[in-house]
Amino acid sequence: MQTRVLTGITTTGTPHLGNYVGAIRPAIAASQRADVDAFFFMADYHALIKSDDPARIERSRLEIAATWLAAGLDPNRATFYLQSDIPEIPELTWLLTCVTAKGLLNRAHAYKAAVDKNTDAGEDPDAGITAGLYMYPVLMAADILAFDAQQVPVGRDQIQHIEMARDIAQRFNHIYGHELFVLPEVVIEEQVATLPGLDGRKMSKSYDNTIPLFAGGAKQLRDTVMRVVTDSRMPGEAKDPESSSLFTIFRAFASEAESNAFRRALEEGIGWGEAKQVLYERLEADIAPMRERYEQLIARPADIEGILREGARKARVIAGLKIAALRDAVGLRAMSSSGAMAGKAKPMPKAARPPRFASFRDSDGSFRFRLFSSEGEELLLSKSFKDPKEAGAIQKRLKTLGGAAANVHSLARSLVLELDGEPVATAPEYADEAERDEALHYLRAALDSLAEQEQSE
Ligand code: TRP
Repeated sequence: MQTRVLTGITTTGTPHLGNYVGAIRPAIAASQRADVDAFFFMADYHALIKSDDPARIERSRLEIAATWLAAGLDPNRATFYLQSDIPEIPELTWLLTCVTAKGLLNRAHAYKAAVDKNTDAGEDPDAGITAGLYMYPVLMAADILAFDAQQVPVGRDQIQHIEMARDIAQRFNHIYGHELFVLPEVVIEEQVATLPGLDGRKMSKSYDNTIPLFAGGAKQLRDTVMRVVTDSRMPGEAKDPESSSLFTIFRAFASEAESNAFRRALEEGIGWGEAKQVLYERLEADIAPMRERYEQLIARPADIEGILREGARKARVIAGLKIAALRDAVGLRAMSSSGAMAGKAKPMPKAARPPRFASFRDSDGSFRFRLFSSEGEELLLSKSFKDPKEAGAIQKRLKTLGGAAANVHSLARSLVLELDGEPVATAPEYADEAERDEALHYLRAALDSLAEQEQSE
């Protein structure tokens, strides 16, 4: 079974070597594994918290999307989308906001740091702090929880946010029903190198010491590499590879044999200028082909947009089903199926009737249906359809399918039914995997019974 791995990329700034080695490259490698179902998205709603410059926001999401694609992300394998193309995320943010303790958000590192800065400056503690910054962790929890992400690879500075997402999910589960949300786990890639920047400190935009990945082309790359700080040893003097930023950066790109050769050259006294040229050439060997793809992509923003839209479409099927279940759980239900009415309904005669579909109109005007077992248990909830005819056609096909032919797979504690490779409906979240597997059994039986009926009619 696949593990759903999800991560967001805040779209501010321009990607640098540290981003590539620390985040982009390992994430793409993970997305190529057969046991990983990867969700990568541009966190452009988060970017709005950090920047109110529309031109920068626009440029950065394009550059970052192009960077990931150029670096080898296959959008047919991974689900790759813009956060702002998923309206279910802000909707979920509100549902989560309503269970999130204000005190939890008071303790968030980024908010606390901003308050401390104000206090030190003798200002009002909340001076210049937006509610957006305050709510950042809730939006991030929605990013993760909307998709039942099981693992979230992030940098160390994000650990607290994932812990908060777990807290919020747990609280929601506790209030509204136990298995509405999967509790995400943080993944810190220990073996991934953190690159030193030009001044030897960690490469980071906030230290202004980065080496750009594609920006400025090969010339800019070479010029920047030439500015990496070294010690004052002269050509001919032995250099210490372990304390050299050049070597650390080199090693993050090179094979073991190449690294050993470079180590030897340093120990044998290669001049720093020459060593920088060696590093530049090694970087350029990896980066040049990616840069070429990057230039091609960035020249065709409409193509990038098409890829992201398709990703959003896939993502929304999942988020939409989740939101439908949550709306139902919190009581934002179609009035015609109100629980208050259901309480008065007469008990169904047991097994007196066959499994059946029930169509309904969702609050947003779209059409959905449920499949109920003969005992009246909900087995499936469909995705939303704009056109009721489409919803009808899918029901019709399901009636002829039979349990054995149905493409049902498990998704955490739920099930997803696919037709033609597209998810069309999910089962409720069950308490555990055993219950889910039992439900699968009932689902197949119900589909068999529908197919039998169809034939006899
Ligand atoms: N806050 C993350 C960062 O700055 C980006 C992000 C937004 C994210 N939503 C997410 C990461 C969800 C993981 C999961 O790096």
